[in-house]
This record gives sequence, structure tokens and C-alpha cells, in this order.
Amino acid sequence: MNLKTSTRSAKEPADKSDPPQRTIVLAVTGASGSVLAVEMLRTLEADPRVGRIHLVVSPSALRVLAEETGAGGRHTLVEQLVGARSTKVSLLAHEDIGASIASGSYPVDAMLVLPCSMGTLAGICHGMASNLIERAADVCLKERRRLVLCVRETPLSLIHLQNMLSATQAGATIFPVVPSFYNHPQTVADITRNYVHRILQHIGLPQPGAYEWGAKAPAKSTK
Ligand SMILES: Cc1cc2nc3c(=O)[nH]c(=O)nc-3n(C[C@H](O)[C@H](O)[C@H](O)COP(=O)(O)O)c2cc1C
Repeated sequence: MNLKTSTRSAKEPADKSDPPQRTIVLAVTGASGSVLAVEMLRTLEADPRVGRIHLVVSPSALRVLAEETGAGGRHTLVEQLVGARSTKVSLLAHEDIGASIASGSYPVDAMLVLPCSMGTLAGICHGMASNLIERAADVCLKERRRLVLCVRETPLSLIHLQNMLSATQAGATIFPVVPSFYNHPQTVADITRNYVHRILQHIGLPQPGAYEWGAKAPAKSTK
């Protein structure tokens, strides 16, 4: 994916009569699928209902981002990923366990770990809190806030499956990186967008133009 070609920009801030803007944590870990995190970040940036996005990128995620998108270096990372200057996104250091989102007293509406590696899944479901991503997720679980783990690995070992069960029992949603095909995607961008839309629908931020089964019958070939 060429990150430089994006033309998307942030929309106007929400109207004063709208409900309070949401604060979302987006954690990116070193599983494959970093393009999904880029799409998520851009969609959140463009959503006027979202006021703040706290972005945490693990060192392994930086490695995978470089491999899969060509993005590199922390200094201009947000600009590279958003495709423009952002007023909403703050990049927090992976090792900064003193950051705002490390405390339950800081209000957060939802945390997405996208993509979520098996290593981070293990750390979260065992309450390790050994870096900011694990700690912020731990806070979401103890405060009963939405925590969505977009796990990605294949095949899955018994350890992975047990960890997903533990995370679910603790209150997280396992939202595996699995594409859908019933919406007739034509491109990788279609698959990516649809996946991101499904997550946002799940956390109460339905997107305009999102595919809805039953809303419109797919066009039938007449040939
Ligand atoms: C190109 C690349 C792709 C990877 N894909 C996955 C993956 O899909 N799932 C996974 O669990 N780990 C994957 N890994 C391994 C993780 O990056 C590694 O386990 C790392 O320690 C995870 O650290 P983190 O959870 O702190 O980001 C991948 C590594 C590389 C370099």
C-alpha cells in the first residue's frame, strides 16, 4: 500500500448539539495486517464523532508496518499513517506506563488492538500489563470498557485458542482478522474497508456507506 497517495482529510468537528466526542485507543501490534490499522486510523480521523485517538504502536508493529506499508520512523509516523496532519491523533510511547490511558481515571470509550498478535493476546489475557498496550487493555477490562482484540494468526494453537477464551471471559471481544465475501468485495481495499466498518459498527460508530446485509439485494447477472 502506498501511504503517500491518500487524499482523505479530517472532516469538520461535530456540531455542538451532538453527543460528546469519543476517545478511542488504537493499539497496533506486530501481527500481519497493518494496512487494517491504517484504514482504521484514517476512518476514525475522518469521523466527526471521534474527538481523540490515542495511538500506541509496538516495536514489532513498526517492523511489520515497514514491511507491509513502507511506513517508517516514529517522528512522522502519524502523518504517514493518517495521510495528512492530524489534530486528533496522539502517539503514545509503548513503554510509557505513565501515559493517560494507563489509568482508569482517564475516560476512554473503546480500545481496539488492530492487528493483535498472539504475544499481545497472551499478555492481555494473563493481565501482564508489562507495556502500555497491555496496561491500557487491562484498564479497559477492569473498568468494564469495550476492548476489541483483532487477533491474527494461522493456524491457531491450543494456547492461542485458550487465550482467546480467557480474554472473552474477561470481557474482551475477539474480532479475528477474517474477511467476509458475501458483500462481493472486488479489491483488497473493499475487504479492508468492510472489516473496519464491522468493528466500528460493533463499538457504536456505524459508518455511512457500510455494507448491510439485506439492505439492498446484490445485482443479478442477466447473462
Ligand atoms: C512480517 C511479520 C509478520 C508477523 N505476523 C504475525 C501474525 O500474523 N501474528 C502473530 O501473532 N505474530 C506475527 N508476527 C510475530 C510478532 O511480531 C512477534 O510475536 C512479536 O513479538 C509481537 O510483539 P507485540 O505483540 O509486542 O507487537 C509477525 C512478525 C513479522 C516480522
